[in-house]
Amino acid sequence: MVNVLFVCLGNICRSPTAHGVFRHLVRTEGLAETIHTDCAGTGAWHIGEPPDSRAQAAARRRGINLSDLRARQTRSRDFVDYDYILAMDRRNHDDLLALAPKGRDGRLHLFLDFAPKLGCAEVPDPYYGGDAGFERVLDMVETASLGLLDHIRRIHDL
Ligand code: 4NP
Repeated sequence: MVNVLFVCLGNICRSPTAHGVFRHLVRTEGLAETIHTDCAGTGAWHIGEPPDSRAQAAARRRGINLSDLRARQTRSRDFVDYDYILAMDRRNHDDLLALAPKGRDGRLHLFLDFAPKLGCAEVPDPYYGGDAGFERVLDMVETASLGLLDHIRRIHDL
């Protein structure tokens, strides 16, 4: 089993979107029994909440259902339980680095490292903006999900 965790700040916009898009891709590729996907937030404000309704609506327009997801906070154990921890931005990355047990930070990546052609390092936080921000998040997340899955297939011979 390969375990993949997407992380943002609130766990209600970017990381559930990434979770839903990547999970959809993994199912489409027939790898659902092999690749397990989850998401979490470095902040505690939204624990137990479903994804933001704007994130759910934007994903639904692309055939992706996020309604079963519930926010939780990252914990140091995530660095034991997950093989790939994907941070949406540098702040998430640095907060996760502070949480990582010694010798385990090799599991941590900026998600957009798997989408070098996009030419940006961070998925911008859409929370305080309009609908266009959620569409942009989806575009970026779709591209990086393809790159991440390619990488995992190569490394794990899937
Ligand atoms: P996310 O967006 O990190 O993509 O889930 C945010 C959602 C809520 C907050 C911050 C970011 N907040 O401060 O409540």
